[in-house]
Amino acid sequence: MSTAAARAKQLREVLNRHAHLYYVLDQPEIPDAEYDKLFQELQSIEAVHPELRTADSPTQRVIGALLEGFKPVRHTVPMLSIRTETDTEAAGAENFDARVRRELELDTDAPPVEYACELKFDGLAINLRYEHGILVQAATRGDGETGEDVTQNIRTIKQIPLRLLNVDAAVLEVRGEVYMRRDDFERLNESQRALIASGAKNEKTFVNPRNTAAGAVRQLDPAVAAKKPLSFFAYGVGDVQGWSMPAKHSAMLNQFETMGLPVAKQRAVVQGAQGLIEYYRDIGTQRDSLPFDIDGVVYKVNSLALQKRLGFVSREPRWAVAHKYPAQEQMTRLLDIDIQVGRTGKLTPVAKLEPVFVGGTTVSNATLHNEDEARRKDVRVGDTIIVRRAGDVIPEVVSVVMERRPSNVGEAFDLYKKLNGKCPVCNSAIAREAGEADWRCTGGLYCAAQRKQAILHFAGRRAMDVEGLGDKLVDQLVDGGSVKTLADLYQLDLSQLTALERMGEKSAQNLLDGLTKSKHTTLARFIYSLGIRHVGEATAKDLAKHFGSLTALLQANEAQLLVVNDVGPVVAKSIHMFFQQPHNCEIVDKLRAAGVQWQEHTGAANDDSSKPLVGKTLVLTGSLPTLSRDQAKELIEAAGGKVSGSVSKKTDFVVAGEEAGSKLQKAQELGVKVIDESGLRKLLK
Ligand code: IVH
Repeated sequence: MSTAAARAKQLREVLNRHAHLYYVLDQPEIPDAEYDKLFQELQSIEAVHPELRTADSPTQRVIGALLEGFKPVRHTVPMLSIRTETDTEAAGAENFDARVRRELELDTDAPPVEYACELKFDGLAINLRYEHGILVQAATRGDGETGEDVTQNIRTIKQIPLRLLNVDAAVLEVRGEVYMRRDDFERLNESQRALIASGAKNEKTFVNPRNTAAGAVRQLDPAVAAKKPLSFFAYGVGDVQGWSMPAKHSAMLNQFETMGLPVAKQRAVVQGAQGLIEYYRDIGTQRDSLPFDIDGVVYKVNSLALQKRLGFVSREPRWAVAHKYPAQEQMTRLLDIDIQVGRTGKLTPVAKLEPVFVGGTTVSNATLHNEDEARRKDVRVGDTIIVRRAGDVIPEVVSVVMERRPSNVGEAFDLYKKLNGKCPVCNSAIAREAGEADWRCTGGLYCAAQRKQAILHFAGRRAMDVEGLGDKLVDQLVDGGSVKTLADLYQLDLSQLTALERMGEKSAQNLLDGLTKSKHTTLARFIYSLGIRHVGEATAKDLAKHFGSLTALLQANEAQLLVVNDVGPVVAKSIHMFFQQPHNCEIVDKLRAAGVQWQEHTGAANDDSSKPLVGKTLVLTGSLPTLSRDQAKELIEAAGGKVSGSVSKKTDFVVAGEEAGSKLQKAQELGVKVIDESGLRKLLK
């Protein structure tokens, strides 16, 4: 028993350390499979000795029971809000510094005040209560006095430590923001769109990362909450007992970091108004490339002693201010709806807007994604709409402001009617297959728009990164007939290029150099550049990592593709179909013959021993929410596992769905681990 206890303790520490390396520092030291092995060892010790299951055990990030409502939590120290400076020029920073100096009665010749500058995250404020280093409660801000107990949902956020490192304070309340990264948000919406397209009822797309994060935290069904990828940044404290506070806010944030808490690295200690202005401008230039939304920056007087002297006015501290950037959502009028032809023939409705300044630039086009989205939002010409532009994501129409709908508003959007059934570029018929959200031009590569888009995608910065190949040039190359397929790009020569309009010898040579340089690439970029439907950058990376070589990917069947991270049935089918087309394989061969190359990792990922479920026996019972029994079986077998019809001590996992019967009971009696469909999906990764 004592050895089991010691081993469990050791495993908890090791696993928590690796979770920190992985989720907070983004520097994993061990492969996922190794982590899983240790995790399973801890799980099995805890199954035999339930008394060893501690609150900080990583096995306890489990999905809890459905709640009726949240318990109110009275904050020991109220959660305040901060004053906002909406002036987006230097004045916002200058006003704040002047106010602080006045309140502190500093002479004009007194040295500048020191400030801690940080980002203003656009999420939901959360109070994390740690007692003796262990997370015991998480609460929302509520009205500042009383919030809601959302511990269950917060525990599923892997970035939030269940135990702080090297802290034994009786109480340490850490405050910060729960938010959703932009890429996580986009991915979530992509999969929502796919679900809706495949006929799922009661599913919707989400409006923005902030609302989605807030909704997830306050979601009563923890299984739903756990599916939303949330992140966290710490920025302050609440109740503190038995911890000696550092003298400065910046030092406190540094200490948070050593405790294992995520703290945004874009923070700075500056002197006086000038320092604030520089920080504001510097972050302003980085805003679009940050992986998450911010709506401004926050300035805080760095000395905690001075903070105390400054105190509060009407629930706002005098020592802090939020300085905003231009809003990422704005209202404007919808003038018209255009249809664009994408690289896969996809016809995208694009809103033509009365130009509006949003997220730092003037926007006059915004995507409506597809016909269903346009209809669900009931977007009509003449409406006032909300447009969102955040980061380098394409601006999109979020919703209609119904109160402002004019009486002479246009009719409900109908893509087929609008185009009279024909592609606006090549006049081919348009079609929409059952279970598909998009209308497509059936012209394929006959359609110049599709060819152009495919080439631009291929040459894009994140794909093959061909320098010097812009849209004007692609227009000429395609319209002039010198580039019909991707492979033709590498056959271009100097005389062909200099014959083009506005193309001097120098730019022609630059393009040829750009093409040559692009030949050295990575497998992930190459896969992405092919423009396979549903294969974005992240999926391309996952595929490259999983298969290690193009040959292995080419040979994969749908079941083998399904095992890859984030690859569902729709994506697997699309990849498989792509490589089934002789035409596509020919282009791939020609590209390689032209010298396109990358490092391959043959063998490794295809070894049976690296499949996640080798040697494991699983039993299926009840009906799973999305997978049929056959599909689940196929997935398990593709991952190297066995599916058995009855539960025994040798069973590794029972996958239980709704109305699971005696097998579930048997599993519980024998102490066999029971998982649900999402647990199965995790195992398969
Ligand atoms: S400090 C006493 N720092 O902004 C100061 N707040 O109106 C308390 N927020 O609800 C807040 N980023 O959710 C602080 N770096 C940051 C912040 C931040 C975002 C949010 C927070 C709070 C609101 C304040």
